[in-house]
Amino acid sequence: MHKLLLDLPTRLETERLYLRSYQPGDGAWYYPMSLRNQPHLARYEAGNAVNRIKREEDAEIVVRGFAADWVARAAFFMAAFCCDTQEFAAQLYIGVVNWELPEFEVGYFADVAHEGQGYVTEAVRAALGFIFEHLGAERVRLECDDTNLRSLAVAERCGMVREAHFRLNKRHEDGTRSGTVIYGLLRSEFAVSKA
Ligand SMILES: CC(C)(COP(=O)(O)OP(=O)(O)OC[C@H]1O[C@@H](n2cnc3c(N)ncnc32)[C@H](O)[C@@H]1OP(=O)(O)O)[C@@H](O)C(=O)NCCC(=O)NCCS
Repeated sequence: MHKLLLDLPTRLETERLYLRSYQPGDGAWYYPMSLRNQPHLARYEAGNAVNRIKREEDAEIVVRGFAADWVARAAFFMAAFCCDTQEFAAQLYIGVVNWELPEFEVGYFADVAHEGQGYVTEAVRAALGFIFEHLGAERVRLECDDTNLRSLAVAERCGMVREAHFRLNKRHEDGTRSGTVIYGLLRSEFAVSKA
């Protein structure tokens, strides 16, 4: 099916969270969220748009960009909120690797105040359902710094398979070097994990 004809849910629910796509007006909360998460994202998410936000208007531009990407099927960004407190817990990113296979990639960060509570694992599992069941993926991939132990643990809790390890292939701003682990998950493996 053509990507623009896909009817995609813009809200997903899990045991403790709801995930939704971004919409105009989200800049009001995205701005303070960004400021409090910038130090937390500096090492492993240096390129994240959150790190470029200096004013509320910047945040509104970012979330409207996410909303536009969703409509164009260029990328799928979702915010995860706790059902009980309505607080922002994590952001999920689903990028398009290619529509022909199709293959997607997943990325994420936890809100610094919501780390270590299993919210990212819960949200990634929901995102995998969206990717396989609604986007029709054959494969999902995840790229992870090999020193990012918390992120490696998320991938492995979600049943992703370690497919490659590029050693010492990047240099961080502080001069330290690290490698990259590539994880993959096939449609057949996801189906087994759901059964
Ligand atoms: C990587 C990152 C997203 C991992 O977040 P996280 O909070 O550790 O991951 P989860 O939400 O799955 O939480 C897992 C922890 O919650 C605990 N937990 C508590 N309740 C849980 C539950 N119901 N289910 C699962 N885990 C639970 C787990 O035991 C685990 O604890 P541990 O840290 O002591 O091992 C986070 O560290 C982060 O945002 N880092 C900066 C950005 C980044 O690196 N992004 C990834 C780039 S690839």
